[in-house]
Amino acid sequence: MKKPEPINEEIALKNNVYIESDTDLKGIITHVNDYFAEISGYTKEELIGKAHSIVRHPDMPKVLFKILWERLNNDQNFIAAIKNLAKDGRYYWVFTDFEPIENAQGEKIGYKAARKKISKHVTDVLDPIYKKLTEVEKEGGMEASEKYLNAFLKEYGEDITVDNLLENIHKLY
Ligand SMILES: Cc1cc2nc3c(=O)[nH]c(=O)nc-3n(C[C@H](O)[C@H](O)[C@H](O)COP(=O)(O)O)c2cc1C
Repeated sequence: MKKPEPINEEIALKNNVYIESDTDLKGIITHVNDYFAEISGYTKEELIGKAHSIVRHPDMPKVLFKILWERLNNDQNFIAAIKNLAKDGRYYWVFTDFEPIENAQGEKIGYKAARKKISKHVTDVLDPIYKKLTEVEKEGGMEASEKYLNAFLKEYGEDITVDNLLENIHKLY
């Protein structure tokens, strides 16, 4: 399936309604709720069996997904702010929480993600940071963007890390 051409138009999300999906251990979608299908613009049939990157937006820096997968592989959560791409090219920002899915034997067989709306003043801060990281990545690769991200966070205080970026977003104004 061809990737949609992004357009600069945001999809308004409802308050307190979760966009949910499950994946296998590699990020292949195994389940989505109705709201995921509604917002992304894809049918459940189009989503199930596809890589979760089907909703990946080109403004999202690779470094954030690298951190996400490192955390998931180490059974750690990562509360991420993600800009996603809908089928019609519009975007929607989500605050995403991850948790492992286990089988009856207690073995990890996949992941569950629940997403909700992020307030506009947070995405206004993150949007230029993510775009900058994406540019840095295009020129210098992942190493350059990791370096840039760490230096950027350090500038705002030793206590700000990628993990608590959302809680500390007010310090970045
Ligand atoms: C449970 C789960 C949910 C995910 N949700 C999203 C998502 O909403 N948007 C997104 O771009 N990537 C999401 N990812 C990450 C993708 O698997 C993928 O790493 C990312 O889109 C980057 O694509 P790429 O690795 O092909 O560059 C999710 C991964 C998991 C395990």
